[in-house]
Amino acid sequence: MSKSIDELVDVDIEGTVAREIFVDEEIFEKELEHVFGRAWLFVGHVDLVPKPNDYFASRMGTDPVILTRDHKGEIHVLLNTCTHRGMKLCRSDQGNTRTFTCPYHGWSFSTDGRFVGRPGGLVGVPGLEKNYHDELDKNEWGLIPVPQVEVYKGTVWATWAEDAPTLEEYLGDMRLYLDYALDYRDGRPDGAEVFGGIQKWRVKANWKMIPENFIGDLYHDVSHRSVDAVGIGPSGKGRRDTFANRMTLCFPQHGHGVIGQLPFYEEYEGVSGAWGDNPDVKAYYEQVHQDRVERFGDSRRVSMSVGTIFPSMSFHGRQPRTIAWVHPISATETEIWRIYLVDKDAPEPVKDEARRYYLRYSGPAGMTESDDMENWAYATRASEGWRAKQLKFNYQMGLGHAKAVPDLEHAVENGEYNEENARAFYRRWAQFMNASSWKDIPMPVDEAEQ
Ligand code: FES
Ligand code: FE
Repeated sequence: MSKSIDELVDVDIEGTVAREIFVDEEIFEKELEHVFGRAWLFVGHVDLVPKPNDYFASRMGTDPVILTRDHKGEIHVLLNTCTHRGMKLCRSDQGNTRTFTCPYHGWSFSTDGRFVGRPGGLVGVPGLEKNYHDELDKNEWGLIPVPQVEVYKGTVWATWAEDAPTLEEYLGDMRLYLDYALDYRDGRPDGAEVFGGIQKWRVKANWKMIPENFIGDLYHDVSHRSVDAVGIGPSGKGRRDTFANRMTLCFPQHGHGVIGQLPFYEEYEGVSGAWGDNPDVKAYYEQVHQDRVERFGDSRRVSMSVGTIFPSMSFHGRQPRTIAWVHPISATETEIWRIYLVDKDAPEPVKDEARRYYLRYSGPAGMTESDDMENWAYATRASEGWRAKQLKFNYQMGLGHAKAVPDLEHAVENGEYNEENARAFYRRWAQFMNASSWKDIPMPVDEAEQ
C-alpha cells in the first residue's frame, strides 16, 4: 500500500475510488482495526436468543463472538476464543447453555457471571490444585467481553472502541429510518420476530461492495432484467422496478444512507403491487400503512426502501423487512448473513406470503441476490490483476448536482439514479482509515458546526 487513503478515495473532486481498496490484503488488515475495530457493528437480534442462557455465534469483523442472554435476561457479547490456548470455544451456531466448556483442555466459562462476578468468567480449570498448585488467577483469564453493547428495538450492536460515541449518536438521523424496519407495525419496539431462520453464504467479493450496493446503486437494475422480463417480481408476477420513475432521495449522513422516494403517502400503491392479490394480505398492509401515516406524520415523510448503517449492516425498511449484514473473510471474500423480520402477531396469510416472498426472492438461491453475487464476485476478480488493480472505479454519477430537500435534514434529491450515498460511504470509510482513534472521526455535532 504505497498511496495515502486520500489518494485512494477521491469522491468529492474526481468522483473515483481506487480498485486497490477492494483487493489489497494490506488495506484489508488495516480495515479490521480502523473500521471493524471502532465502528458500532450489528451482531444479531434478541429474537435469536429469546430464553435465558440462549446463545448465538456471531462475528465482528474477522473475530468470532458469542451473543448470549444471561439468566437475568441481559445481553452480552464475548470474544469466542478460549483464553488458555485459543481454541474456538463455541462451535455451534445457536443453542442454550449456562457454561461453555473448551474441548481442548476443558476450561469452562460462565455465560452470565453468576459465580465470578462477570459474564464470561472462568469457572472451571481441570487440575487447578494439582497441576497449577492453585496459583492460576481465574479472574484474569475470563473470556474477553466486548466493552460496549447496546440493544436498540431488538437489534444488538457492539463496538470494541471504549471511546466510541453512544449508539444513538452513532446512528444520528438514520435511527428514524432504521425504525421502519424494526417497528413497522404499530410502533411497538418488540413488534418484529426473526422469521424462518438465518441464511448464510459466501461470495468471492470485497465486503464493501455489498453495503454500498444496497444504498448507492439503483442503477444496476439492468442486472435484474431477467426477473422483470419473465414477470416474476416480488408478487410472483409483474415488474420489480415499479418505483424506478420516482424521485430518489438519499440521506448520506456519517456514511449511513437511505434510498427513499417522495411522497410518503403514496407508498401503499407500491407495497400492494409487491404483495400480490391476497385480500387479507392487502388489507393488513393497508392498515399498517395508515398507522404509519398517522404515527410519523410529516416528520418522516419518505417512502423508504433500503438503508445501510456504516459499515456493514443493511436493511429493507419497506415490506418485506430484512436485515443483511456482511462479515469480511479476506480482501476478496465475504460472508453474508440475512434475517427476515415479520410482525409477531401478523395473521397467518401475511406470514405465508412473507415466507413465499423470502424463498422466491432473497438469499443465495433467490431470484435477485444470485444476480448481485455474480456482479460483485466478477468485479472483484477482474480488479485483482497487476494491471487492473491500478485503475479506479467510477463514482461520478450526479456529482455536484445534489439539491437539498426543504425541511428534511441530510436529504438530497438528485434525479432518478445517482451515487450520493456511495460517495458518502467511501468518504466515511476514508475518515475511519485516516483516524488514529474516535477523537479524529467527525460526528453529527461537528458536521452541524461546519
Ligand atoms: Fe481451551 Fe486449553 S485451549 S482449555
Ligand atoms: Fe441487486
